[in-house]
Order: sequence, then C-alpha cells, then structure tokens
Amino acid sequence: MSDIKKIKDEFLHKLSEDLNIENVNQIKSELFGKSGKISNFFKNLGSLPPEERKKFASDLNFVKDELQEKINKKIQEIEIREINSKLENEKVDVTLPERDIVRGKIHPVSQVIDEISSIFSEIGFSVEEGPDVENEHYNFTALNTPDNHPARDMHDTFYLDDKKELLLRTHTSPVQVRTMLKDKPPFKIIAPGRTYRSDSDQTHAPMFHQVEGLHIDKNINMGHLKGCLNYFIKSFFEVDKIKMRFRPSHFPFTEPSAEVDIGYELKDGKIVIGEGDKWLEILGCGMVHPNVLKNVKINSDKYQGYAFGIGIDRLAMLKYGINDLRAFFETDYRWLNHFGFDPLDVPSNYRGLSR
Ligand code: PHE
Repeated sequence: MSDIKKIKDEFLHKLSEDLNIENVNQIKSELFGKSGKISNFFKNLGSLPPEERKKFASDLNFVKDELQEKINKKIQEIEIREINSKLENEKVDVTLPERDIVRGKIHPVSQVIDEISSIFSEIGFSVEEGPDVENEHYNFTALNTPDNHPARDMHDTFYLDDKKELLLRTHTSPVQVRTMLKDKPPFKIIAPGRTYRSDSDQTHAPMFHQVEGLHIDKNINMGHLKGCLNYFIKSFFEVDKIKMRFRPSHFPFTEPSAEVDIGYELKDGKIVIGEGDKWLEILGCGMVHPNVLKNVKINSDKYQGYAFGIGIDRLAMLKYGINDLRAFFETDYRWLNHFGFDPLDVPSNYRGLSR
C-alpha cells in the first residue's frame, strides 16, 4: 500500500503544478499507459496471496479514480484557460467602421450574350465557340471567299503574319465551318464571340461582338429563317409586334443573302422598337451557299439551311439606350456602374461600387 500511496502523492503533487496539455498527457501515460505505474500494479494483482489481493485491489481502484479525476479536472482547467486567453486576444472592436464591400457589375455585352443564348436555347439552338485568332482558310476560303474576292477588302482584316495566314477573325462565321467539320448534320447552333476589324468611330470599334446562327437540316428554307429571326427579335426587345424587313444583299457564303432591318421611331428623343417608319439594320443572313456545304463535305442536295450574323453591341445599345459604342470598351467604372447589371445574389448590405 505504501508504494501506491507514494505514487499517488508524487503524481497529485505533479498535477498541482502549472502544466500544459502535453504535460498532462505525459503524466497520463506514465500512470495508465501500457507499462504505466498504475497499470503495472493491476497486472501484478494475480501474483498476490488471495487474502491480500482483495484489499489491495480496492485501494488501488481508489487511487486510480482519484488520479483520474485529478487529471480530468486539470485538462478542463487548461481548456478553460486557453479559451479565455483566446477571447482576450481576439476581442472585436465594435467601434471600428465597417469595411466597404466592392462588388462588380455585369457588362451590358455579357448580359446581352446571356439573354441571346437563353432565347435561342428555347427553340433548340446550342452554343458553340471558336478562337479569336483564326486562320485565313476558316475565316474566308472555306466560306466561299476566294483570294481575290472583293469581300476580303470590305473586312479590313488585322493580319498577324506576313503570309496573311493568321488573322483576328473578322466575323463569327468561321465557327460555322468548324462546327460542320466536327460533326454530322443536322446542326442548330449559335456562336457568340469577339470579332475584329480595323475600324473606329461612334458606331464602330476595332473589337466588337457578333452572334452567328446556323441551322442545317433536310428541307430548311427561308421561311424558317424569317420565323426564327422574328421570334428572336420579339423576345429580345420584349415586344408583341415587330416591323422587320429583308433587304437583298450579298455575302459570299449565303445565296440568296439579305440584310435585316427593324422598324423604329423616336419618341421624346428615345428609340422605340417595332413602331414607326424608320429602319435600322441589325443583321446579315441568308441560305448557306452550296459551296460552303461542299467545303465541309455535306451533300447540298440532301441538306440545306440558313445562317445569320447579328451585331451584339448594337443590340445592347438599342435595348439599353447606350449611344456611344466606344464606351463599352473603355473600362470606366462610373459607366459600368450606371449601365451594368447586378449579379443575382446581391447581399442586403451592398451599397454599390465604391471607388
Ligand atoms: N458574317 C457576316 C458579317 O459579318 C454576317 C453573316 C453571317 C451573313 C451569316 C450571312 C450569314 O457581316
């Protein structure tokens, strides 16, 4: 018994000192670990004469419980001390001014691309993409625009090498070619993206945006094209009736080709879409030229269809009353704050973009 008492006194004393959690764990294993002091006593119980065993075992259990309890208390003490010191050090100063939340706005062009994509997706078009840096073949030749074709001059192309093989795409039409080479007909796609031409004034920027449309299947005709564009323009401008006219035009990759104007009038200096006797050109379109289909190995006796290319920036300007195209690309935060769109999940404490 005196051995157990000695151990008990020794460890109770140790446990009354200033300890951290590692020290306590150390003590715990010295006492109750595999070859801990108390554990050893338990192991040796069997070798005691039966008359001593019972008493010794009961004393040993008492000591064990006492030490165990002391250890638990100590651990609790240490934990409370740690929490208190954390609270002390991490005090929040509620008198500090709040930090401003700086939140971006969605650019009108991105907003309009989303709107266009969702309108066309409702009538079965999927979205394709192509690279901004395009090769001459996809941008012109495969689209039935041979080397000496005057349409090449119309496009004021930015070439990227002396051989004029690489260029910044002048329209989204090369995505037609890429899509048709990749898969088998039918095709029903739109392809929004950036396009480039060496041009700059109030209504032209060297970089602008188009959305290409392509629908190829058996028995597709110009009536489908008209119906599709009519549906799109009405949905986009959120009007029930639209005045629309197809003007004969020329593109090397469509035959026949047309440019589409929509009717508008000016009311108190504002453009009202769908009424009046003024006309505004918004897109080029036509039935895909058999040569284009031949270039992508599609039998034009079996399959045909329409294509269109819409100027996205112009649609955005019309719908949201923006009169200078160049402002789109000047990254002026005041402009974006005014014409931009809020993301859906605006927090309740949002107070606008602060700069
Ligand atoms: N790619 C033409 C342009 O940029 C528009 C267009 C697309 C015309 C598809 C017809 C068919 O002007």
